[in-house]
Amino acid sequence: MSTSAVFSRIVGSGSCLPSRAVSNDQLAAEMRSRGIETSDDWIVERTGIRQRYLAERGTTTSSLAIEASRKALADAGVDASEIDLIILATSTPDFVFPSTACLVQASLGNKGAAAFDVQAVCSGFVYALTTADSFIRAGRARCALVIGAEVFSSILDWNDRGTCVLFGDGAGAVVLRAASEPGIEAAELRADGSQMHILSAAGNVAYGQVTGDPFLRMDGQAVFKQAVTVLDRSARSVLAQAGLSLSDVDWFIPHQANLRILTFLARKLDIPLEKVVVTVDRHANTSAASVPLALDVARRDGRIQPGNRVLLQGVGGGFTWGSVLVRM
Ligand code: ACO
Repeated sequence: MSTSAVFSRIVGSGSCLPSRAVSNDQLAAEMRSRGIETSDDWIVERTGIRQRYLAERGTTTSSLAIEASRKALADAGVDASEIDLIILATSTPDFVFPSTACLVQASLGNKGAAAFDVQAVCSGFVYALTTADSFIRAGRARCALVIGAEVFSSILDWNDRGTCVLFGDGAGAVVLRAASEPGIEAAELRADGSQMHILSAAGNVAYGQVTGDPFLRMDGQAVFKQAVTVLDRSARSVLAQAGLSLSDVDWFIPHQANLRILTFLARKLDIPLEKVVVTVDRHANTSAASVPLALDVARRDGRIQPGNRVLLQGVGGGFTWGSVLVRM
């Protein structure tokens, strides 16, 4: 393996959504039939979400991840056998073990790559991408598959209208390859475990039984404030690291939690909204999948072009957050 200075570059992307799109009206009707009141108006006004894709029973995180990975490999023109590192970010793995990354590896027919999952909730993809970049820079890998994938609907309490309307399922993937020029120009990962109580799914499997509360619980207003504060700070910090300013960024892809958070953040950073990629209206919040899904959508519709500078940002439970500045 070469030990000369290497950087990493995104050379392909892909994504996958379950086939079942559920509009707010459909969700509200279904919830109303169980005595829970919500409406399209409430959801759109507070979140900007209009629909989400929900996995049918039997659709797993690995199945979405495999499809997204196949598309990313095809887009990159890379054969699965060339991959020597697979990192998959998820909070909804198929199994306690083996990792979902190993399930993807087996399905793709790859042999020998290192494969593991990363758990940083909605920051997961940014954590995974930064980890893969570090492997490549250190000369420990040459070609990585980095995935964010979730069947988040499986950990929602469908009787809690304050959370279940916010999320969806999906997967996004990128192929990251060693390159002589960056690619990934700067990155920063952060966490504050003392904030764990504002967003958690505090259950576990022990002695053959689920103990604790396996559903997501959230203090929405605390999450809102924390998300805007840390994403603002992290964007400035990662640009300073690269010796650049916010105006040097062509596209912003913050975690797609909520349109109000995205709008608030853009205003704080003085970024025109036209530069912010928004998919939360169609996908809702897909946790670790939200950033790679949005990246893939904006690459495929022609907004993100080679040479563009893109700021990817994750924020979520832990509390965790991070930013990656990418030259496409
Ligand atoms: N439909 C109708 N009414 C609802 C619903 C719903 N789906 N959910 C809550 N309400 C009601 C509440 O019961 C409450 O009623 P009350 O006044 O009679 O008590 C009222 O609406 C206001 O509730 P709040 O929770 O105060 O609503 P808020 O304005 O804070 O909006 C929201 C809630 C959208 C979650 C907001 O706090 C928010 O955007 N938080 C950011 C968190 C977020 O986006 N999390 C995503 C996951 S975290 C992440 O990805 C980082």
